[in-house]
Order: sequence, then structure tokens, then C-alpha cells
Amino acid sequence: MMNGIERGSRRTFAFLLSIAFMVAIVLGFSMLEERAIVVPVSAQEAASYVGPDSCVTCHEEQYKEWNDTAHSKAYSDPEFQAAWEEAGNPDDCLQCHTTGFDESTGEYSYEGVTCESCHGAGFTMQVDKSPELCGSCHTGEYGRDKYEEYTEGIHAGSGVTCASCHAYEGSHTFEVESGACATCHTDDDIHSRNMIGEFQGRALEAEDAASQLEVELFELQDQVEDQEGRITFIGQVTTYAGLALGLVVVAITFFYLRQRNSG
Ligand code: HEC
Ligand code: HEC
Ligand code: HEC
Ligand code: HEC
Ligand code: HEC
Ligand code: HEC
Repeated sequence: MMNGIERGSRRTFAFLLSIAFMVAIVLGFSMLEERAIVVPVSAQEAASYVGPDSCVTCHEEQYKEWNDTAHSKAYSDPEFQAAWEEAGNPDDCLQCHTTGFDESTGEYSYEGVTCESCHGAGFTMQVDKSPELCGSCHTGEYGRDKYEEYTEGIHAGSGVTCASCHAYEGSHTFEVESGACATCHTDDDIHSRNMIGEFQGRALEAEDAASQLEVELFELQDQVEDQEGRITFIGQVTTYAGLALGLVVVAITFFYLRQRNSG
């Protein structure tokens, strides 16, 4: 026979067992939806920067590619350090060469252009492929006018973004790989229709025009020489005519005097 205490502890045991079962089910589901167990941060923490080392465990590939780039070294880069020192270490420079720069305090969270510069602070993990994101730093004199050049180019008007060329297949080196152009420009397109045909056509036209101009120049030169020749000839004719006229006058005077003497 069970006593009351035994019955009570059995009931507690059954109760705990069912709780454990439910927890197991919930955990099981959340394992399927990986991100649900991935981001155990409060709203407060999510607003602050956590640094690229907090991303490496889950995004090793992006981290490795990024780690070798100018972005990761944007602050430590000796060229930047030298130029920054020469300028008197102004805060201005840190806006684009660090992550989480605070204008009001002049402080920043991490050196260089890190994951969170592009994906938002903390574990927000947002993806922004807009040219304006890149353009926020690659602009003006410091950013060598890349954004301005892009907006004036044919690609901006066709909805092609910086990432279309610089983040080919999600690459985080941001180098433009040879395959990037071919995602949109199929081979017969880029070679025959626009680039080579057109540029070569224009070059040949220009060459033609140049040689035509040369021919005209030679003709003009010939004409000038002709004129010069004619001018010299006229000059010579005038001189000889003058001389002949002088001789005639002398001869007439001579005959006149002889006539008068003999008459
Ligand atoms: C504990 C693991 C973990 C950590 C740490 C982590 N992530 Fe993620 N992240 C994930 C998972 C899982 C996904 C979803 C994967 C998928 O959609 O392919 C994801 C997706 C993303 C995406 C793509 C989101 C989308 O909408 O496609 C970005 C961007 C990202 N993470 C950035 C970061 C950054 C930046 C950090 C560091 C601040 C970070 N992650 C830290 C696990 C992690
Ligand atoms: C508006 C954002 C921005 C600001 C502000 C800024 N830079 Fe830069 N800087 C860039 C970008 C973007 C590049 C990369 C340009 C490129 O390669 O096309 C760069 C590149 C450089 C480079 C070249 C590094 C190399 O490896 O060639 C130096 C040096 C540099 N910046 C120094 C400075 C200094 C010093 C200041 C402050 C006086 C400053 N930057 C302010 C965005 C900025
Ligand atoms: C200069 C901006 C920039 C930096 C820095 C950057 N990313 Fe990204 N990231 C992007 C862009 C743009 C995409 C979208 C690429 C695409 O698919 O076109 C992306 C996509 C991703 C994705 C989604 C999967 C994919 O490849 O499309 C993950 C995950 C990610 N980044 C993680 C990281 C991590 C981790 C770091 C730091 C180690 C990092 N990123 C640094 C701009 C950046
Ligand atoms: C927070 C500012 C910032 C953002 C956002 C940013 N960059 Fe940069 N980027 C820089 C700086 C600064 C450098 C130069 C670092 C150095 O050389 O010291 C750089 C370097 C580069 C380089 C290498 C240039 C070189 O001369 O080697 C490429 C390519 C590049 N960025 C592309 C992009 C693209 C594409 C995006 C958008 C997806 C982007 N960047 C977003 C600041 C930024
Ligand atoms: C149609 C493709 C395309 C688009 C769109 C594009 N780029 Fe480029 N970008 C290139 C190519 C090609 C190069 C030359 C790469 C080289 O010389 O290695 C380049 C060079 C650069 C460089 C200098 C890299 C270096 O190594 O000196 C930076 C920085 C850059 N681009 C940033 C941007 C930014 C920012 C945007 C958007 C506002 C953008 N690009 C849009 C194709 C593109
Ligand atoms: C995401 C798609 C996309 C990518 C990637 C891309 N382009 Fe384009 N490109 C376009 C579109 C769309 C146009 C406008 C096409 C048109 O009107 O025929 C264009 C136009 C051009 C033109 C002007 C052609 C003309 O008719 O005058 C040239 C040159 C060009 N692209 C070269 C490149 C190069 C080089 C790359 C790689 C570095 C590249 N593109 C990458 C989509 C792309």
C-alpha cells in the first residue's frame, strides 16, 4: 500500500516529467529555427556594438575574407595612421575609419570598418545592399568620389548597385571578380554589341577623320607654295619689265639726242 507521501511524490514526478517533455519539444522546434537560439540578447545590449570577434564563430567565411581587406585595417593601416597624425589627429577622420564613432564624444567602439558598420550594431544582422550604404563613406575627396562617379554612370540608372559588382556571390573581399560582369552581361552582349564594336568603330572613324584632315592640310600647304611661287614670279616679271622699260627710255633718249645733233 502506498502512503500519502509516496503518492504525492509520484504526482510531482509525473508533473516534472511532463514539464521536461514540453521543454524538449520547444527546444526541438527552436533547433529547427536556428536563429531563435542564436540571439540571446536584450534590447539594451542589441543597441551597442559587440565587435567582429562576436561574429566569427558563426560566420567564419565572411570573417576570414573581411579580415584581409582594407576595411578591417582602415584604422590600423600605417598609411592612415601617418596621414592622420600629419593632419593633427582630427576626429573627422574617424567617422569612416572606425566603427560606432560618436561625434559628440569623439569616441568609437571598434577600429576599422567592421561587420557592424554595414550590418547594424549588435546582433541586428540586417543586410543592406544599397549604394547609399557604401556611399556614406566612399564619397567626396576622402572617398575618391566613387559614389558620385557611380551615380553619374550608366549602371546606377539601370539599378545595378555597388554590391552587384563588389559583393559577387556574397564575397566579403569586395574586390570585383571577373565573373561579376558576366552575371548580367552575357558574352555576346558585352563584347560584340557595345564595347568592342562601338569603341573600335569610333576609333576608326577618328582615324579616318585625322587622315582626311592631313590630306586637306597638305593641299593647303601646296596652295600656299603655289601662291608664293606666283608672287615671286610676278615680282621677277615686274623687275624685268622695269629694267626693259628703263632700257627703252634710255634708247629713246639716245636716238632723240642723236637725231637732234645730226639735225
Ligand atoms: C551564434 C551564431 C551567430 C552569431 C554569433 C552571429 N550570427 Fe549572424 N546569423 C546566424 C544565423 C544562424 C543566421 C541565419 C543564417 C541564414 O539565414 O542563412 C545569421 C544571419 C546573418 C546575416 C544575414 C541575415 C539575412 O537577413 O540574410 C547577417 C548579415 C549576419 N548574420 C551578421 C552577423 C553579424 C554582423 C554578427 C556579429 C555581430 C553575427 N551575425 C553573429 C548566426 C549567428
Ligand atoms: C567620408 C568618409 C571618410 C573620411 C571622413 C575620411 N576618409 Fe580616409 N578614406 C575613405 C575611403 C572610402 C577611403 C578609400 C578610398 C579608395 O580607396 O577609393 C579612404 C582612404 C584613405 C587613405 C588611403 C589608405 C590607403 O591604403 O591607400 C588614407 C591615408 C586616408 N583615407 C586618410 C584619411 C584622413 C587622414 C582623414 C581625415 C583627415 C580621412 N581619411 C577621412 C573615407 C574617409
Ligand atoms: C562594407 C560593408 C560590409 C562589411 C564590413 C561586412 N559585410 Fe556582410 N554583407 C555586406 C553586403 C553588401 C552583403 C550582401 C551581399 C550580397 O548577397 O549581395 C553582406 C552579406 C552578409 C551575410 C549574408 C550572407 C551572404 O553572404 O550574402 C552575412 C552572414 C554577412 N554579410 C556577415 C558579415 C560578417 C560576419 C562581417 C564581418 C566579419 C561582415 N559581414 C562585414 C556588407 C558588409
Ligand atoms: C564606414 C565606412 C565605409 C563603408 C560603409 C564602406 N566602406 Fe569601403 N572603405 C572604407 C575605407 C575607410 C576604406 C579604405 C581603408 C584604407 O585603405 O585605409 C575602404 C576601402 C574599400 C575598398 C578597397 C579600396 C582600395 O583602394 O583597396 C573597396 C573595394 C571598398 N571599400 C568597397 C566598399 C563597398 C562596395 C561598400 C558597400 C558594400 C563599402 N566599401 C562600404 C570605408 C567604408
Ligand atoms: C559595374 C560594376 C561596378 C559598380 C556598380 C561599382 N563598381 Fe567599384 N569598381 C568596379 C571595377 C571594375 C573596379 C576596378 C577594380 C580594380 O581595379 O581592381 C572598381 C573599383 C572600385 C574601388 C577602388 C578599388 C581599388 O582597388 O582601388 C572602390 C573603392 C570602389 N570601386 C567602390 C565602389 C562603390 C562605393 C560603388 C557604388 C557607389 C561601386 N564601386 C560601384 C566595378 C564596379
Ligand atoms: C547587376 C547587373 C550588371 C552587372 C553586374 C554589370 N552590369 Fe554593366 N550594365 C548593366 C545594365 C543593366 C546596363 C545598361 C544596359 C543597356 O542599356 O544595354 C549596363 C551597361 C554597361 C555598359 C555600357 C554599355 C552601353 O550600352 O554603352 C558597359 C560598358 C558595362 N555595363 C560594363 C560592365 C562591366 C565591365 C561590368 C563588371 C565590372 C558590369 N558592366 C557589370 C548591368 C550590369
